[in-house]
Amino acid sequence: MSLEPRDDHDHEAWLENKDLTPVERGYLTTLMWLDKRFRVVDYLELLENLYYKVNLQMPKSHTEQYNLDNKFWYWYPLYSLGFFSLLAYLVAAFSGALLGFYYTPGATGAGGDPEMAYRQLEFIMMDLNFGYMLRSIHRWSAQVMTAAVFLHMLRVYFTGAYKEPRELNWLLGIVLISLTLVFGYSGYLLTWDQLAYWASQIGVEMALSIPLLGEWVANLIFGGFTPNPATLQRMYIMHVFLLPFIVTALIAIHIGIVWMQGIAEPH
Ligand code: HEM
Repeated sequence: MSLEPRDDHDHEAWLENKDLTPVERGYLTTLMWLDKRFRVVDYLELLENLYYKVNLQMPKSHTEQYNLDNKFWYWYPLYSLGFFSLLAYLVAAFSGALLGFYYTPGATGAGGDPEMAYRQLEFIMMDLNFGYMLRSIHRWSAQVMTAAVFLHMLRVYFTGAYKEPRELNWLLGIVLISLTLVFGYSGYLLTWDQLAYWASQIGVEMALSIPLLGEWVANLIFGGFTPNPATLQRMYIMHVFLLPFIVTALIAIHIGIVWMQGIAEPH
């Protein structure tokens, strides 16, 4: 469609001769007012064309294709595990953002004290109104997400949904489950209690076991070869700044691909 200049002066005359209800007249007057200034009708038509083009490519779902309306109902709960992972992620993101108002690692810089992290946790659990509940919601939703993502992966595997043409989404899924685990691990360390401290020591040892690059990787991720304030600070930035953006973007792409390709038929 071309976006040539148009002559819109007869809009009002056209409207006057019509027999319309007040609601219809209000709607059309608003649309014409907007169209005169911003050419919204042209852009709405462009969007409509795009919508039909994209939808023409959508394959039919299994139920539509084989008319299985009532027979395959028992698959559906399992087909929701991806959305269940998303839901758990959203709950974790929201409760995490609220926790962010009260938690600080406080580990590095002038007056830095890594024990501050643990004290913040004590404050959240014992003094903050609804703090115990907020932290529990965050921890539980994180664990539910990990479990749901794993079960979703099993569902995709056992229904053969990873096969052509969905290989790339499977690979993206591998990245997503790995990042989900990194999310969980980095969050686990933020309490900086005994469990967190020694879990980070295990992480350091694992990094060090990488041939040739081990020391470099341990330094990069943990800021040293034993848990130290820089370790906590790095986990914090990873957990609240890097991972949320990366994982949110990848989930959007992942679900976008499912939307374009349609759900796979069980093989
Ligand atoms: C953050 C984690 C993830 C989220 C939020 C997510 C979300 C989703 C959603 C909403 C769907 C639509 C169908 C359904 O719900 O089952 C889906 C499909 C799919 N997912 Fe995931 N997913 C995640 C992780 C993974 C993982 C770990 C894998 C595999 C390694 C994977 C591979 C796939 C594939 C291949 C499909 C297409 C399945 C089909 O067409 O039947 N996803 N995902």
